[in-house]
Amino acid sequence: MIIARSAADVHAAVEGPITFVPTMGALHDGHASLVRLAAQGTGPVVVSDFVNPTQFGPGEDFEAYPRDLDADAAIAEAAGADVLWAPSVEEIYPPGFATTVDPGPLAEELCGASRPGHFVGVATVVIRLFGLMQPVRAIFGRKDYQQLVLLQRVTRDLALGIDVVGAPTIREHDGLAMSSRNRYLSPEERALAAVVPNALRNVAASYANGERRPDALLDVPLDALELEYLTVRAADLSPYDPDRPAVVLIAGRIGGTRLIDNLELDPIAPASAGDALFAKESA
Ligand code: PAF
Repeated sequence: MIIARSAADVHAAVEGPITFVPTMGALHDGHASLVRLAAQGTGPVVVSDFVNPTQFGPGEDFEAYPRDLDADAAIAEAAGADVLWAPSVEEIYPPGFATTVDPGPLAEELCGASRPGHFVGVATVVIRLFGLMQPVRAIFGRKDYQQLVLLQRVTRDLALGIDVVGAPTIREHDGLAMSSRNRYLSPEERALAAVVPNALRNVAASYANGERRPDALLDVPLDALELEYLTVRAADLSPYDPDRPAVVLIAGRIGGTRLIDNLELDPIAPASAGDALFAKESA
């Protein structure tokens, strides 16, 4: 695997249609699963490693965000990446850069309500990364469900011709979704964090039992979680419709650490959602 510092170095190193895995580094098994999925295709796999300043708000963890290129390279290579691209801030935001990509009103809901400007920062950097990489396909985790829906929408609205694929969430033994921010949790907080997947599991169990009323579905114990939102929406994040595929989404804090998660609910196969929550627990 090559470590490239510029997009030009990436293009000099690879041939053929690129499958792209954008990341902010701090790679873990969840990212490795995205790279493994990318490596099932035929062309080269490029993983970007860039902590994007424009998607962090004032007082958020931009400075503290873990950065370890050597550790990231080891994980990316083992998972099958051909290139790890670690661009400079100047390559992504050169002098005079003034464009922003606004994904529309959904960017201000859910996580966007507590993180104003976050999804504009995400969409702007991803479109810039796409422009520099020109991939045919890009893979994002379904754990960041709102991000995935918004990026699929932006890519379609701007007719970029890139296939934006959502890959399954990878979970710890107790169901906690893998996240770079889990490392901020103290051992005590880490134990309490199981409340998040447990809440989703309870919603899924109730849904599997035929419950479709949102208030009843969402009436689950939240223990130590400082809840930001727990809601159920249609799978495209439009308002919930009991007859259509849905998704339950949760965000909250344990101590100072913000955790998000979600679970897709299918009215045709309602029992499968809860199973899926823990199916990957040994991954
Ligand atoms: O999901 C992430 O890691 C980031 O939001 C992304 C998509 C790499 C953009 O910086």
